[in-house]
Amino acid sequence: MNLREELARVLAPFQGQKGATIPALQKVQEKLGYLPEEAISEIAKFLGLSKNEVYGVATFYAQFRFERQGEHVIRVCHGTACHVRGSPRISETLEEELGIKEGETTKDNKYTVEGIACFGSCALAPVMVVDNKIYGRMTAPKVKQILGEYQGAK
Ligand code: FES
Repeated sequence: MNLREELARVLAPFQGQKGATIPALQKVQEKLGYLPEEAISEIAKFLGLSKNEVYGVATFYAQFRFERQGEHVIRVCHGTACHVRGSPRISETLEEELGIKEGETTKDNKYTVEGIACFGSCALAPVMVVDNKIYGRMTAPKVKQILGEYQGAK
């Protein structure tokens, strides 16, 4: 099934419903993991809106992504407690190991690295989160060890 057919299937229940932009965006993101330009065009067509109107809604909400994410999303906390206890070193180590900066995805699509504000686990600072798993009291060697575990898992 090509992308257009897949989108047509996901979007069928929203046909002509101009007010359904958010649920339509959510459904497509759930299916594809992000919102490529073609998906925005199709959503606009299905709802009877312009592409700009759909983009206007999508960019307003932080939950929507326009870039593909890696299989694993690694988040580094940059809240004050984590920063003071060494999160810049954690980011540096990730950059050295994976060759990408925060906000980027590795070429093999395995990892996306993101920076986040306080994760609410300051007692464990500095904190790194992989998918939904929290790793506390992070150090550079621990970053390497954790990455090794994810590499080994596939
Ligand atoms: S500052 Fe990092 S968890 Fe609060």
